[in-house]
Amino acid sequence: MTTAAPTRGRTAIRSGVAGQHPSLHSFHPNERRALQRIDWGARSSAAFYRSLEAALDRGSESGSVDPVRNPYTPGAGQHPPELAGREREIQRFGVLLERVAHGRPERGVILTGPRGSGKTVLLNTFRSMAVQRTWGTGRIEARPGRSVRQPIAAAVRTALRALAPRHRAPERIEHALGVLASFARAGTGDGSDRAAQAGPRRGPGTDAAAVPGRADSGDLETDLSELLLDAASVAADLGAGIALFVDELQDVPAADVSALCAACHELAQNGGPLVLVGAGLPHLPAVLSAGKGYSERLFRYARVDRLSRSAADHALTAPALAEGARFDADALEALYEASGGHPFLVQAYGKAVWDLALRSPITADDVRSAVSEADEELAVPPASPEHRDRRPRGPVAFPPDREVPGSP
Ligand SMILES: Nc1ncnc2c1ncn2[C@@H]1O[C@H](COP(=O)(O)OP(=O)(O)OP(=O)(O)O)[C@@H](O)[C@H]1O
Ligand SMILES: [Mg+2]
Repeated sequence: MTTAAPTRGRTAIRSGVAGQHPSLHSFHPNERRALQRIDWGARSSAAFYRSLEAALDRGSESGSVDPVRNPYTPGAGQHPPELAGREREIQRFGVLLERVAHGRPERGVILTGPRGSGKTVLLNTFRSMAVQRTWGTGRIEARPGRSVRQPIAAAVRTALRALAPRHRAPERIEHALGVLASFARAGTGDGSDRAAQAGPRRGPGTDAAAVPGRADSGDLETDLSELLLDAASVAADLGAGIALFVDELQDVPAADVSALCAACHELAQNGGPLVLVGAGLPHLPAVLSAGKGYSERLFRYARVDRLSRSAADHALTAPALAEGARFDADALEALYEASGGHPFLVQAYGKAVWDLALRSPITADDVRSAVSEADEELAVPPASPEHRDRRPRGPVAFPPDREVPGSP
């Protein structure tokens, strides 16, 4: 059987060059799979007809790998069926939540890793853990050149609204929402002096009356510190906390990074139960330390990277088992060789091989055909500059599979 070299698609992903689509692409996937199993380069006609017979035989079998039930989830931020290899980080974050809720000092957490390594799904998992512990939470995704004032206001609002129903003193919640309104209003170009003269008004996106003179100076660092302190004190009343999650943190403008760090610093000194959890690309620590020199002491950096062989196997086999299917040992070996343990590729190849295989157990041959097919699909051409921000980020600019520093 002739299959493309398994690394072709990954090379194309790295270089951003569109893959050449072979003529097989004009066939229906089922026909394509059958055609790929035929040994077109067979030395003898007997060998050719044997492979033809085998391909047709397999085509008539009923398999337990139903494409409709394909469990794998390649895609930006898509929660995988099995979050493999992150147990230690999950356990550490659980301890952090307990400590902060008990008034113990803890640093925020910064997840860093290359594209497609699983930062967003881990961030979302952390958020679910905080929600389960009845914390107030909010999440933003930073955008290049966009101030974080309004997104942070929206995230804090979500967190306060989650805490509000359990609070016994509605005026405390009302006050915090008022400070939030001031904070949000200070970013609308409505100067604080004028705002103060105009008296209490509603902030954008809130019903609460703004509290003039609190979190509305227009200086993000000061305003953020005041807002977060007041929000944290409401959570402290409940013996809970607030966790704010910022994805793509490296895209926050430099001045706002500095303000965020300073506000976290202020909060750490006051022992307020509010935690900032960020995620971003590997250069994020440098961005934060350029913002504030003491950022290394404010945050714990956790590298999110390739999965070990056993974690990658688990990410593939557990969801398959749940569907009553399994992989041959050789198939798992071939899959790890192809994915190098990169979480996005684990899902992408897992999905491709499930769609291609006709029955369980999934074989190394199935893997080889699927990887070559998936690589061609992954070799998407680079998007035009105006669409770059909206492009799904997993498959593009993916890191080399063998040269990731610090990988298992
Ligand atoms: N621990 C894991 N086990 C199995 N699959 C995972 C794991 N983590 C992430 N994935 C899968 O990897 C893919 C990428 O995940 P995610 O979007 O979280 O990466 P990312 O690091 O945030 O990427 P980007 O930098 O492009 O935003 C998704 O398809 C997800 O289902
Ligand atoms: Mg992400």
